[in-house]
Amino acid sequence: MKIFARITGTGSYLPEKVLTNKDLESMVDTSDQWIRERTGILKRHIAETYQTTCDLAEQAARRAIDAAGKRPQDIDLIVLATTTPDKIFPSTACLVQQRLDIHGCAAFDVQAVCTGFIYALSVAEKFVSTGAARCALVIGAETFSRIIDWTDRDTCVLFGDGAGAVVIEASEVPGILSSHLHADGAYETLLHVPGGVSRGYNMPDAEGDPHYTRMRGNEVFRMAVNTLGRIVDETLHANDMKKSDVDWLVPHQANIRIINATARKLNMSMDKVVVTVDQHGNTSAASVPLALDTAVRDGRIRPGEVLLLEGFGGGFTWGSVLLKF
Ligand code: COA
Repeated sequence: MKIFARITGTGSYLPEKVLTNKDLESMVDTSDQWIRERTGILKRHIAETYQTTCDLAEQAARRAIDAAGKRPQDIDLIVLATTTPDKIFPSTACLVQQRLDIHGCAAFDVQAVCTGFIYALSVAEKFVSTGAARCALVIGAETFSRIIDWTDRDTCVLFGDGAGAVVIEASEVPGILSSHLHADGAYETLLHVPGGVSRGYNMPDAEGDPHYTRMRGNEVFRMAVNTLGRIVDETLHANDMKKSDVDWLVPHQANIRIINATARKLNMSMDKVVVTVDQHGNTSAASVPLALDTAVRDGRIRPGEVLLLEGFGGGFTWGSVLLKF
């Protein structure tokens, strides 16, 4: 009998500190009106200096495990997506494992920037559907504020910190129906942090400080809209489904205009699209599970409904997961 991986619990966490558009007006040459109109973002949450990605991830993970009615000891796989790990090593997945007092199960990080959670969920699903794990914890967590130049108005208004998580369990009923992952490294420099562990940070020719996110926003925007439109078609075609079969679109939360364009492609009215970008900006790998948890907890998403999760990010990377909740 086919084994499916089914989401049995969701959780999320946003740090308490809030940075509003008004706050940003006193930091860079921008306005609340510009940010609202061009991005749909009203505020973002920022981790305190003592809070790390692992701290955020732990909170989201505990909530997801509780929601699934499980104990941390039931978890037999941890896959964590992040671009902003606490340490070079051990992986943040191992740090979360330590916090949860879980010992022995596989734990590793996945790096696909804003598509990270989609990648992590797809990888964990393979473990569960092949019988290699029965109860997996999948987390997307970021302290993206640490790789933002807070004097660069092109990027600093867009991003925030947060974490989201799900528990997926082996099940005879669906479950995750399919996942679709893609990347094209040819677009490296449209969205990147130039410096790094191996390359170092000593590169006087790099535009701006090599510690921070550089983005050609306009080009990224166009690519995101086109690519996400294509992945919708690919996902529906693989499942022999029509657009009208999808109950909820749970998109990466980067910009309301990108989300609107994907919804139009699906002929989906915006009341069937989960939008949280206004509340926390682009939280990279955390954004899809944050949105999912919000709509599960407020009762919008109900058992048995069909969800299309999708993401796009640096690399470029992009992907989708179609599932029955
Ligand atoms: N406040 C005020 N003005 C700003 C600004 C800010 N924070 N940031 C840029 N501007 C200015 C630009 O300098 C430009 O001025 P100019 O016309 O005098 O040159 C003007 O606003 C328009 O800039 P443009 O880049 O064309 O705006 P846009 O409509 O493309 O919106 C983004 C910019 C970044 C919001 C948009 O391109 C975007 O969302 N891109 C995708 C980003 C993304 O999702 N990245 C992550 C992918 S995972």
